[in-house]
Amino acid sequence: PATVGRDDAGRLTVGGLDVVTLAQEHGTAAYVLDEEDFRSRARDFRDSFAGAFEPLAGADVYYAGKAFLCTAVARWVEEEGLSLDVCTGGELAVAQRVKFPGERIGFHGNNKSVAEVRAALTYGVGRIVVDSFQEIERIAAVAAELGVVAPVMVRVTVGVEAHTHEFIATGHEDQKFGFSLAGGQAFEAATRILARPDVFDLLGLHSHIGSQIFDTGGFEMAAHRLVALHARIADEHGHHCPEIDLGGGYGIAYTSQHTPLPASTLAGEMAGILEREFKAVGDGDLSTLPRVSIEPGRAIVGPSTFTLYEVGTVKPVEVGGGHTRTYVSVDGGMSDNARPALYEADYSCTLANRRSEAGPMLSRVVGRHCESGDIVVLDEYLPADVQPGDLIAVPGTGAYCRALSSQYNHTPRPPVVAVRGGRSRVLVRRETIEDLLALDVADA
Ligand code: LLP
Repeated sequence: PATVGRDDAGRLTVGGLDVVTLAQEHGTAAYVLDEEDFRSRARDFRDSFAGAFEPLAGADVYYAGKAFLCTAVARWVEEEGLSLDVCTGGELAVAQRVKFPGERIGFHGNNKSVAEVRAALTYGVGRIVVDSFQEIERIAAVAAELGVVAPVMVRVTVGVEAHTHEFIATGHEDQKFGFSLAGGQAFEAATRILARPDVFDLLGLHSHIGSQIFDTGGFEMAAHRLVALHARIADEHGHHCPEIDLGGGYGIAYTSQHTPLPASTLAGEMAGILEREFKAVGDGDLSTLPRVSIEPGRAIVGPSTFTLYEVGTVKPVEVGGGHTRTYVSVDGGMSDNARPALYEADYSCTLANRRSEAGPMLSRVVGRHCESGDIVVLDEYLPADVQPGDLIAVPGTGAYCRALSSQYNHTPRPPVVAVRGGRSRVLVRRETIEDLLALDVADA
């Protein structure tokens, strides 16, 4: 993150605080979030897209709360002028808690309950992204009951294969999200929505092709197909959807293998793509150009956070051929970062509490859980003198780590601690064994 460095004693510092002090105050494991880094990335996306799309019809950035959301973060997103993408009643409740302006909230999900649709429409969200024919009926019924017109977008399966892990790719045909373009379902969804102006306002078309993506090729193909559908809806129904959403998915650097595009480059390329595509279908006429929105989660919150662990044991293991790998066990693992186990996600780490002159030692940083797949960092050269009591920092854990965390093995979840201007404060407190036991009905 932006404000990370080392002090004279070789201790990692963030936001003006060193990790030894942070560990003393908040314990380990802990997610340490650099507030200024989060805010500046949020602003960078907002300003880059607003700037690049200004000559077109403008752009909005929705922060994807699924990556990580808590009350303070929802407030920061609001203060920095971004919109918010929520995908459950739970995320919506966090937004409501900070009185996040309803018109700046988008609501997603392939299986929204009637209660969630009712909550969203009652709060006055700016858009519901519709995912199935049954949901069209469900939303129509709730809107009629409440006497409101629901602003909706159609989630389109654009048939783009994103080059990312299968479980986080979402644009290809054979999957649960959206209306297929190839099968004509997306057009049919728009037709049914437009037939009910008493309960629906068709805002636009939406696609999300996947996550941890490093080039704009997939977005270009998605835009090409969405623009064609947009034109067909205009031709056949005389309705120019005022918005197009290209989803999130911008990659971040977990290791030196990854080189993410800066937000300004992304914004420039995306604006160029949209302009070209609309010129192509409209014979150069851009008067009905829709406003564009995007939904980055990982690219805003991912790099803002590192997880701070304490080393518990260090164990050299013979791995054959005269080689040794040292297993460094820390006080967390797959319960606070499931991504290595789920997606074979790669991370890096660093000795954080001191400087070391010792030579490099091939290490595998592992957690404290009862499975051998409980890996924090698969391969890393740590100094050979790493020992119990040392602190290890794993950067890039802001997105989908706390969000996907569990209490596996009855492990209380770590806190989320924000640092800014030399001060730290708890955003989400550490769970306790009592919290866990409190859910368990003792005399059942
Ligand atoms: N919009 C929609 C409709 C989405 O489904 C997602 C992510 C996003 C935006 C934000 O994507 P991002 O910019 O954060 O990549 N748990 C997986 C990622 C799942 C992504 C789910 N949808 C992981 O840890 O890699």
